[in-house]
Amino acid sequence: MHSDSAKLGKFRLDGRSAIVTGGANGIGFAIASAFALAGATVHIVDLSLDAASDAVQRIAQAGGSAKGHACNVAVKEEVDRVFGDLLTRERIHILVNNAGIAGIGRVDTTTAEDFDRVFQVNVKSVFHCTSACIGSMVKAGGGVILNMASISASSGLEDRFSYSMSKGAVLSMTYSIARDFLKQNIRCNAISPARVHTGFVDGYLAKNYPGKEAEMFEKLSAAQPIGRMGEPEEVANLALFLCSDEAGFLTGVDYPLDGGFVNLR
Ligand SMILES: NC(=O)c1ccc[n+]([C@@H]2O[C@H](COP(=O)([O-])OP(=O)(O)OC[C@H]3O[C@@H](n4cnc5c(N)ncnc54)[C@H](O)[C@@H]3O)[C@@H](O)[C@H]2O)c1
Repeated sequence: MHSDSAKLGKFRLDGRSAIVTGGANGIGFAIASAFALAGATVHIVDLSLDAASDAVQRIAQAGGSAKGHACNVAVKEEVDRVFGDLLTRERIHILVNNAGIAGIGRVDTTTAEDFDRVFQVNVKSVFHCTSACIGSMVKAGGGVILNMASISASSGLEDRFSYSMSKGAVLSMTYSIARDFLKQNIRCNAISPARVHTGFVDGYLAKNYPGKEAEMFEKLSAAQPIGRMGEPEEVANLALFLCSDEAGFLTGVDYPLDGGFVNLR
């Protein structure tokens, strides 16, 4: 959809710079690609410089412009250093807080260490990256922030206690940021996908269901009433819309992208 839209001149991001955390793989990579092909300069922030550089190369081959940065977004000092460096050189118009990890277990099978790890990566990172960018967005007269939540925030997925907790916090931060910066022309929204087919899912199946991956893949697909998982590009299409000027009237909203998961089960 984004390439057709680009031809029509809608949803363009020419002259904009965007940061996409966790942009080397999966949903983040699809978002970084869609933004770059819509004309943005994209900064891919990920754990490893090699992975980020590989993503940058794939985007360049497709005709887009991107740069890669190594940064663990769970660590405030790293975010302050990498983002601080970037912000002294250019204006950042769009921040996509996408980096995230899984957390398996119920309240009685989740260790305090697992809880903290998921909290650090999925929750603190949104705080670190947003607080690093927001001052410069205010100074520049506006910006757009998009947070990757999950249907687990509102539906409490089975055996996903810490993960659901973390995505609930992502939603609350979305509403809070949107309200506090309405007058500063900063829009903040969230996308809540159901299961999307990425390395996140494949890694989970390989680790937890060795030899039964195909069977479990079918089971996870059937959890969406529409009968399949989402594709990263489908999340990217919505992200592109929400971060474009076409979505100028939208802020403080969570968008389920879920094949009917929330309303049709
Ligand atoms: N795949 C799904 O089914 C699904 C569903 C709902 C929500 N989400 C959310 O979407 C986001 C992306 O998921 P995905 O499926 O593309 O995952 P993925 O594992 O395919 O990619 C995540 C990327 O984030 C990076 N990352 C992880 N921790 C990081 C850190 N501390 N600092 C910097 N980078 C880090 C990883 O290196 C990786 O490149 C996550 O927030 C996830 O919770 C995914």
